[in-house]
Amino acid sequence: DSEWQRAAGIADLAEGEVIAASAGGQRIALYKVEGEVYATHDICTHEHAHLSEGYLDGCEIECPLHQGRFDIRTGKAMCRPVTQALPVYPVKIVGKDVFVMLG
Ligand code: FES
Repeated sequence: DSEWQRAAGIADLAEGEVIAASAGGQRIALYKVEGEVYATHDICTHEHAHLSEGYLDGCEIECPLHQGRFDIRTGKAMCRPVTQALPVYPVKIVGKDVFVMLG
């Protein structure tokens, strides 16, 4: 199902924040950094924690459970204990809506 799915309204996202959203029945995390919107899978690749409840520091999201970090632009695992990359999804803004392309 490679289609654009609506995930949120652009007004739901404040600068420098992360929110949980759902698209195509899947829970994702949406971020806004310097005006750009990014989307990733919401579950950490280490254990079961919601990254949307974590701490966003620039373009890095810190997991609330063991403080692993991912780059939200690439999904790259930045520090222990996370070693596996996080899935990231393409984003487009159409009008007032945020759409994501799920894998
Ligand atoms: Fe995210 Fe452990 S569950 S770092």
